[in-house]
Amino acid sequence: MIREAVKSDIEALARIHSDSLPHSLLPRLGEEFLKNKFYPMVVTSENTLLLVKELGGKVVGLALFVYDSRCLEKEIMKHKASLGIAVIKRIFSDHRIFSAAFRRLCSPKIRTDKTEEFIESSKNQMPAISEMPEFYTLAVLPDFRNKGIGTELTLKGLSILQKNDESACIAKPASHIACSFFQKLGFRNIGREIRGPNERPLMIFKKEKV
Ligand SMILES: CC(C)(COP(=O)(O)OP(=O)(O)OC[C@H]1O[C@@H](n2cnc3c(N)ncnc32)[C@H](O)[C@@H]1OP(=O)(O)O)[C@@H](O)C(=O)NCCC(=O)NCCS
Repeated sequence: MIREAVKSDIEALARIHSDSLPHSLLPRLGEEFLKNKFYPMVVTSENTLLLVKELGGKVVGLALFVYDSRCLEKEIMKHKASLGIAVIKRIFSDHRIFSAAFRRLCSPKIRTDKTEEFIESSKNQMPAISEMPEFYTLAVLPDFRNKGIGTELTLKGLSILQKNDESACIAKPASHIACSFFQKLGFRNIGREIRGPNERPLMIFKKEKV
């Protein structure tokens, strides 16, 4: 069953997120930060669509879509004190976390491929990239991967966005595997997001014209 996440899922969500994406910034801040700050915020936020896959009463996967990612970053920044403490606690075991956190605070540069048809469409009413919903996180417990759950969560989320009149969604895959996974589901590469020395592919899913 795929359903929207509720508060009682928070512990499972924090665990799946930190186990599946250990190198991303939020998990590097610690599971406690995800459990006590991040997920309580996104579960109740109207700015997010958080889906979970439940099998036999156990949450085995999650998909988090954010309608306005700048707004989410501002919401995260309301927890400045906890963020600061989390960074300080981690600094001895993860000495690059300070620069990683700092980079996240700076506005990213977006480099799009100017030959893309997307740029043409953006002149014709397509919202700017920063105004599009973002597919923020997708994670499935290792024992449940390659069974179609990631695909199911992604397609369900995209169809809910479309019902809510969102015609496009962007994703910034964290790995080559994720990149080819998104490509199979219809996302297209449109450029790169650059934060300091880090670059991530920028992909878009656009509703087909009928
Ligand atoms: C990416 C992820 C969510 C996919 O979930 P999933 O439930 O396994 O996805 P599905 O079963 O629907 O589809 C898996 C597809 O990914 C491909 N895949 C899985 N592992 C792969 C690997 N190591 N290398 C290449 N492709 C791989 C499979 O070939 C499969 O494609 P296919 O259906 O054409 O065979 C899951 O692997 C995961 O949680 N990874 C860690 C977190 C992560 O990277 N999230 C993405 C963040 S942007």
